Amino acid sequence: MKIIVLGAAAGGGFPQWNAASTNNARAFAGDPNFLRQTQASLAVSANGDDWLVLNASPDIRQQIIATPELHPKNGLRDSPIKAVVLGNADVDAVAGLLTMRERQPFAVWATTYVRRVILANPIFGVLDRSLVRFETAGHAFEPLPGLKCRAFAAPGKPPLYLEQIDGIGPAEGASIGLRITDASGKSLVFLPSCAEITPDVVAAIDGADVLFFDGTMYTDDEMIRSGEGQKTARRMGHVAMTGTGGAIEGLRRVKAGARYFVHINNSNPVLNRASPERKAIEQGGWRIAEDGMRIDV
Ligand code: MLT
Ligand code: MN
Repeated sequence: MKIIVLGAAAGGGFPQWNAASTNNARAFAGDPNFLRQTQASLAVSANGDDWLVLNASPDIRQQIIATPELHPKNGLRDSPIKAVVLGNADVDAVAGLLTMRERQPFAVWATTYVRRVILANPIFGVLDRSLVRFETAGHAFEPLPGLKCRAFAAPGKPPLYLEQIDGIGPAEGASIGLRITDASGKSLVFLPSCAEITPDVVAAIDGADVLFFDGTMYTDDEMIRSGEGQKTARRMGHVAMTGTGGAIEGLRRVKAGARYFVHINNSNPVLNRASPERKAIEQGGWRIAEDGMRIDV
């Protein structure tokens, strides 16, 4: 299985267009210790020719341009991207579908909840339904030959723009994690949004060869302390990396091969490659995903 990190940042990207904190200012300035990152997405392939994209980020056009494997190759209209799986209906996971118009056939796999949200919005009518198939992401599906997928419920909440309607509690199908297994049995777990580490989450991750896990914030209250926001990570649907109940503690005993944090918010100190926080994460056996990383497993 080939995995490419198309984007490593959380919603808004890094730097975020209106963010002036030191992290963001250094990234705007091009400081090599603060590498710019696009919004979270992975590309996965079993054969190196046909690709599955996990989450259609608003940056997908830039991500495709930066990734030769995803360039059109044959004839006048073509894309190696044959399927997209959506983990939730957040803007940073679905807005890229709008870029994927232009009469190109591919399949979109999503839960009933996410599909309903997308199809209720007339702007997604730009995807010609005679070419773009909407399929149900469930317990067992195969979006590309040789890549078996299992969707599992991720503790989370409806998208920010639906909180007024659907509330801030769990909603069935609002957020899923994915476990993808190739023909040789190698497996990838992608869980960029996870509000709590439950026994079910631990079980879903256990034994994965490669894990990409929610690394939105370093500490639960980092945006409150810095004055950048009023919400904790958890209120936004994300466990913090550190602290009680955080990802590092909660996943300490899980069997997993390479562990990457992904969906990293622009407030997170680990975006500074020279920071003590980054060093602490790496010494703990985790890596910080960055745009353009390639992993063969
Ligand atoms: C999140 O991951 O919390 C969301 O993407 C936030 C947002 O929609 O801006
Ligand atoms: Mn997000």
